[in-house]
Amino acid sequence: MSKEWFNENFEVMLPRETIESRTKELAEQISEEYSSEGVVAVGILRGCFMFYSELIKNMKCPTQVDFMYVSSYGNAMSSSGVVKIEKDLQTNIAGRHVLLIDDIIDSGLTLHNLREMLMVRKPKSIKICALLDKKAPRKIAVEADYKAFEVDNHFVVGFGLDYRQFFRNMDFIGKLKDGRQDELDKLIESTTS
Ligand code: IMP
Ligand code: MG
Repeated sequence: MSKEWFNENFEVMLPRETIESRTKELAEQISEEYSSEGVVAVGILRGCFMFYSELIKNMKCPTQVDFMYVSSYGNAMSSSGVVKIEKDLQTNIAGRHVLLIDDIIDSGLTLHNLREMLMVRKPKSIKICALLDKKAPRKIAVEADYKAFEVDNHFVVGFGLDYRQFFRNMDFIGKLKDGRQDELDKLIESTTS
């Protein structure tokens, strides 16, 4: 698989350079907000990892790094909203400012429910930072306090976001080109069987 291969199969929507420079801007705003009291930066695995690292390395405020792994029941393309914590934080967030960092807000259910679950631990504040905000009908009202980009309502892949757990490593965000899905499905099946 090569860079050319990715470009043959995915239409570039947001190139790497665009994502990086926008993320830098966000990091500056976030740094100002937390400059005096610091923040616990909570990455929601696995989709967050590339955006998270890009963001964190540009933040100039006192920052603690931590991660959660949550699963939401439902099928591959839509979540039911029941969130289960598979890997919890190592950090005690009571009295702390928390920033949840995720790849994309779609229905809004995952972040809404996760925020409710974390509120019980009495943090000083909880805010949300998302790489992408999908212009899709939300199932529940939740807005990102910080977001890098809005995207139309279609399935996007790369820069951490997966198609069937593959292609998270693409350094751009793209959408599957017409007529390529069968080929990718075959590739995934031959790789995982
Ligand atoms: P929701 O906001 O609860 O619907 O779920 C958001 C989660 O669904 C994200 O963190 C992603 O893991 C996944 N997701 C939603 N839309 C996409 C997409 O277009 N590509 C890849 N993953 C997506
Ligand atoms: Mg996710």
